[in-house]
Amino acid sequence: MNVTTRPGTGGTPLAFNPLDPAFIADPYPFYHRLREEAPVFNTGLGFWLLSRYEDVAFALRDKRFGKDFPGNIRRRYGEDRMHEPVIASLGRTMLVLDPPDHTRLRGLVSKAFTARRIADMRPRIRALVDEQLDRVADKGAMDVIRDLAHRLPVIVICDMLGIPEEHRAAFLVGSNVSGRVLDPVPMSREEFDKANAQTEASSAYFDQLCELRRREPRDDLTTELVRAEEAGDRLSTEELRANIALLFGAGHETTTNLIGNGLLALHRSPEQWQRLKEDPSLIPDAIEELLRFDSSVQMTGRVTMADVEVAGVTIPAGQNVITLLGAANRDPAIFADPDRLDVGRENVRPMSFGGGIHHCLGAQLARLEGELVFTALVERLPNLELPGKNEPDWRQNFTLRGLNKLPAVWH
Ligand code: HEM
Repeated sequence: MNVTTRPGTGGTPLAFNPLDPAFIADPYPFYHRLREEAPVFNTGLGFWLLSRYEDVAFALRDKRFGKDFPGNIRRRYGEDRMHEPVIASLGRTMLVLDPPDHTRLRGLVSKAFTARRIADMRPRIRALVDEQLDRVADKGAMDVIRDLAHRLPVIVICDMLGIPEEHRAAFLVGSNVSGRVLDPVPMSREEFDKANAQTEASSAYFDQLCELRRREPRDDLTTELVRAEEAGDRLSTEELRANIALLFGAGHETTTNLIGNGLLALHRSPEQWQRLKEDPSLIPDAIEELLRFDSSVQMTGRVTMADVEVAGVTIPAGQNVITLLGAANRDPAIFADPDRLDVGRENVRPMSFGGGIHHCLGAQLARLEGELVFTALVERLPNLELPGKNEPDWRQNFTLRGLNKLPAVWH
């Protein structure tokens, strides 16, 4: 495990170890120190950290910051990792590509995510939330992650991709081990082996799905992408498979964690849960506050394509730069009293969905799923309690912040 140490101005050194259990449990005190003592921080480990809202927003929007995925991976792992299946697959997705490839791939799927298309999904998603709650309502207990927060977004993205119901069982119970590839701390050989196995299994399945939709086209995203692939040089077979895998992964794990982290935060500030129960009309804005307060995506990466000055510090060309979305979200220059959860906070603009050309494609969908889950919970399980809320079981991931489990009970 890597630990970076630099003298901070606060006397004790600044040590960045994003997989330290204490950091995972509560990264926010470290972010506060970073913003105050070294807002543009060269870790000396081949990447820089940006932690102020303004600087993060700048880096996500300025064209001198790109993705340069091969360079990024080379700096993190050395020469030979581009061929690891998990890296090769990620490398073909819009998430890590620069224009013009990014523009082409995003253009092919963005029609499915227009505000209109997402709004039309509202009744189906509310019915799905109710279905998940019906399965557990009489039991008086559930694991929020397993029984609700994971299942709902998986079913929604399966619907969008046209994954037949009879193929879904494994996805509904599976957990993702590939997300660690997004962390700045390199994966171990063992982690690579697991992530590669998962990538290969899902690639094989998505090939099968594409084959099915070639034979039996439907009104779904896979059918649209297969048509684009067949139309010629707009989409290669590898890109087709990799971007379906991206949509599947991005479409559920992050939303699972919005629900899990959000419900935990509300129960650790019970007066805020009470406010939502008394006035559910607060919920749409409360989702922005929950996204801000404990973002399910804590960071994303960029590479300097030229020398760039940020807040008076020049970052040379060819450096990996980590924009700490979770730190930006607690910046007191933007959010008054940032460590307080306040579901009535106005005009919250969390950094959780990123910004610029890679701004989250599924942001509206995630917001809608969050709104409908929290609305159903305050309506149907107002007495819900989280017995383990003071010792949450966090996943050992930094970038994708979320819980392994979240037991709930009600009367
Ligand atoms: C990109 C966060 C839900 C699909 C991103 C990025 C962030 C993010 C921060 C930008 C990464 C970067 O700039 O490098 C989140 C959060 C979510 C969520 C916090 C839930 C709370 C979803 C959903 C979908 C989705 C539900 C799809 C169904 C995508 C895709 C990209 C993306 C395809 C890549 C866009 C591009 O590179 O142009 N997301 N996401 N996300 N997200 Fe989300």
